[in-house]
Amino acid sequence: MAGASALNSDPDRLLFAYWVPNVSGGLVISKIPQKTSWDLKSNLRYAQTAERVGFEYALTQIRFTASYGAANQHESISFSQAILQGTEKLKVIAALLPGPWNPVVAAKQIASIDHYSEGRIAVNIVSGWFKGEFTAIGEWWLDHAERYRRSKEFMQCLRGIWTAPEDGGFTFAGDFYRFRNYRLSPKPVQKPHPEIFQGGNSDDARNNGAEVSDWYFMNGNDLEGFRTQIQDVKARAAKVGRENQVRFAVNGFVIVRETEAEAVRVLQEIQGKADAEAVNAFHSAVQTAGASTSNKQGMWASSTFNDLVQYNDGFKTKLIGTKEQVAERIVLLKSLGVNLVLTAFLHYEEEIEQFGRDVLPLVRELEAQGRGKDTAFEIEQSGAVYRKQTP
Ligand SMILES: Cc1cc2nc3c(=O)[nH]c(=O)nc-3n(C[C@H](O)[C@H](O)[C@H](O)COP(=O)(O)O)c2cc1C
Repeated sequence: MAGASALNSDPDRLLFAYWVPNVSGGLVISKIPQKTSWDLKSNLRYAQTAERVGFEYALTQIRFTASYGAANQHESISFSQAILQGTEKLKVIAALLPGPWNPVVAAKQIASIDHYSEGRIAVNIVSGWFKGEFTAIGEWWLDHAERYRRSKEFMQCLRGIWTAPEDGGFTFAGDFYRFRNYRLSPKPVQKPHPEIFQGGNSDDARNNGAEVSDWYFMNGNDLEGFRTQIQDVKARAAKVGRENQVRFAVNGFVIVRETEAEAVRVLQEIQGKADAEAVNAFHSAVQTAGASTSNKQGMWASSTFNDLVQYNDGFKTKLIGTKEQVAERIVLLKSLGVNLVLTAFLHYEEEIEQFGRDVLPLVRELEAQGRGKDTAFEIEQSGAVYRKQTP
């Protein structure tokens, strides 16, 4: 197997990340047995495997309380730091929730972690969808637009604090946060600053993607769903002079087996053994969240029961089949403008390694042949699967 550095030498390559299972129950709301653990020791093993086989990012989750599964949750910043200490190359994207965090604590914490890890931390600013969580911890449940307005200021403050000139410091007068000549020292190692991710599907999330974040994260979706979001966020970014400054990341749950039929059977088993009560409760929470957005197009607005067995609609991306099929579909995503694929697996114990061994080199081969650039050609190759109900 080619080493990870040989695999990842092309500057135009697609990047790969995986969801860190720092909450219990894995990444599906199902009673199917999973070889996936949420403790630190197991996660260090997953992270070390991931960086060895060519993953470049890992994403931790932030949750303060159980929600539809996920009975136990480790905190994202400290967990990210622990993973960084046990790895050498992997970048870890730590989730931050405005409200419990304010920007000065976050900027200071992340700048320090950037030093400890020699420039390997990034952040994902989440805006919240789970009212029960906010209520449980005494946080105001702002309406959707206001949550995103606060997140926008949060990201402006992070960027401002991290990059403010030594002489003047950072000054900001917002509706949520205020700073006067604040000087952060040390500044982060990464220049201009650690990468800022945020995601969603609503108008509010798209505007924040266009106006303030470096990355726009999308839930699983079909081709049209990805294509329209990417084009829309790019157009919004161009309007504020940020053309080509936003990159795109998509979520996809990966099931690679010897045959497509076998992979589909695993999907059906995951969905067939869904924890119905938890999925239905999750369904009603996220549909309320989706419907409360101004355009009624929040993430999960049209998700079915079966979609929601994976928290972030990851089955819709259809990375389910043989290694060749999955590699082909991944280059199709690249041709739509996707820069990073965020993966999750049923059995982390085995499947991170398998993905790095079986799928990643195929993607790199296709990229080396110039694939992943011509959308019409890629749709002709492997687009049909996205028009079918099942993979
Ligand atoms: C890749 C990704 C990761 C996310 N991680 C978290 C998380 O760890 N904790 C959380 O509360 N919300 C998380 N979210 C949810 C978002 O912050 C937001 O609430 C959701 O995208 C709803 O978006 P919308 O209503 O704007 O469409 C995540 C979303 C995406 C796409």
